[in-house]
Amino acid sequence: MNILVINGPNINMLGIREPGIYGKSTFADLLKLLRDTAEAEQIQIEQYHSNHEGDLVDKIQWAYGKVDGIVINPAAYTHTSVAILDALKAVSIPAVEVHISDVDAREPFRRISYAGMACVKTIKGHGLEGYREAVLFLKETYG
Ligand code: DQA
Repeated sequence: MNILVINGPNINMLGIREPGIYGKSTFADLLKLLRDTAEAEQIQIEQYHSNHEGDLVDKIQWAYGKVDGIVINPAAYTHTSVAILDALKAVSIPAVEVHISDVDAREPFRRISYAGMACVKTIKGHGLEGYREAVLFLKETYG
């Protein structure tokens, strides 16, 4: 099974950005969690990060015909991007939305998720472990 993990803007700043909200674990820790999960589950996990909306759309389009599932944290674009929503709908690959923080418990504008409208599941507020949960869900459901 091939899973693509996509992270949007500022996720590469984990460990530095707002540790009271996102925790002290770094982006490198997240990449290690993904490598360890891939090894433990005997699956392929490719990760992609960009701070740019169009690059995220390009990567979702690239995934068509190549991956079996997508884990996506569109970060701030979650709450604004119809383009990412449309890209996920266009490729029709099972996708799980992950948020490190509990977006429902924060500012009201974070309660709207465009990307989530094209996702089979949303995991929020579980920290980095949410990514592992998302991968396991895709493996159990579509693997
Ligand atoms: C986030 C939540 C978003 O509202 C925020 O813009 C992020 C990270 C999360 O993982 O909790 O950058 O997606």
